[in-house]
Amino acid sequence: MLKGKTILIGVTGSIAAYKAADLASRLMKQHAQVHVIMTENGAKFVSPITFETLTGRKCITDTFDRNYPSDHPIEVEHISLAKKADLVIVAPATANIIAKMACGIADDMLSTTLLACTCPVLVSPAMNTHMYEHPATQANLDILRARGVKIIEPASGHLACGDEGKGKLPDPAFLVDCILAKIACPKDLAGKKILVTAGPTCEAIDPVRFITNHSSGKMGYAIAQAAALRGADVTLVSGPVSLAPPLGVRLVKITSARDLFAAVTAVSESQDIIIKAAAVADYRPAAVSDEKIKKADNDLSILLARTEDTLQYLGSHKPEGQILCGFAMETSDMENRARIKLKKKNLDMIVANNVKVAGAGFGTDTNVVTFITQDTTEQLEIMSKESVAMKLLDRLIVL
Ligand code: CTP
Repeated sequence: MLKGKTILIGVTGSIAAYKAADLASRLMKQHAQVHVIMTENGAKFVSPITFETLTGRKCITDTFDRNYPSDHPIEVEHISLAKKADLVIVAPATANIIAKMACGIADDMLSTTLLACTCPVLVSPAMNTHMYEHPATQANLDILRARGVKIIEPASGHLACGDEGKGKLPDPAFLVDCILAKIACPKDLAGKKILVTAGPTCEAIDPVRFITNHSSGKMGYAIAQAAALRGADVTLVSGPVSLAPPLGVRLVKITSARDLFAAVTAVSESQDIIIKAAAVADYRPAAVSDEKIKKADNDLSILLARTEDTLQYLGSHKPEGQILCGFAMETSDMENRARIKLKKKNLDMIVANNVKVAGAGFGTDTNVVTFITQDTTEQLEIMSKESVAMKLLDRLIVL
């Protein structure tokens, strides 16, 4: 997602500097060009060689570093890096670098480069709770916020100094999400409201048992994340899954088909696009036992009653201009059956997949889908669910 992007990581003198190595590695995996500048104190916690090995680039620590090969054109390094960067993240950021940034002090390579940067800047403070909460640090952070710098709230927990409280550097995966949210995609869905449903529903039989399905929620979560990265205002209505909530998305957790119907219809009217990737139960036990059902010698039948079909409801109450997209998971005669659902539920598009096709099953990281509209059928190759999500949004924008 960061192919072609140059990201500069500023590492300062905090014990959390070791987590910046993980950040650099994760950004490399997203195909970013990663440069690292360390302050002198930062380099006391982690060796610059760690970053050089991870990024394949020289880690810079000194403003007057003149160690160029003889044929290297002479560059003013802090200016050339500042010009090259698509984004700078200072992680971990000490109280000292925050104060220097707020005052415009430029007395080493990192602070000098930061002053020369015109790209988006993220600052991820990591320090003792009292230092973080000190009015001086808070005032400096306010100054930076007012200048458009994005401050990433530190996490709370046990700190290296022995105190408990706010001041931990967040998980590097979260820092990557913050970077993606800033620069990964063009914001072509800004101003659009998108509702996505994801995951399975669970229909109670008794206090200990329920009926559900194999949906992992990965497809719906990938769509919600992609829409948020593209600037949309995203509501994600999700059944029980074990996935982390996507960054920048309003998450509404539900359990049953009845909950899903209530959560979706509460907000559906104001949405520009609704994408229903959830695997909703078509039937629920007609009666839910208050007590655990005890086994007996004979067989047991459970009478099932129909649930509400939320997508059917949305299709018959669709406001002018709203785009409605359903999913159809089939095991045979996929295109035909999906087309019947498209028509019956009054959809603008349906994403069909055959659960029996390799790479398209539940819980996989890939999918093999066909986009079907009234007049078109477009079969996609096997690809990651993230790529399917991006392509789906591209198609819905055209619609
Ligand atoms: N759907 C829904 N409410 C239901 C059942 C399904 O909103 N009670 C939605 C799903 O989220 C999906 C689409 O309808 O977007 C199609 O779901 P699917 O289970 O494939 O189709 P059904 O209409 O339930 O038909 P069948 O199970 O017979 O294939």
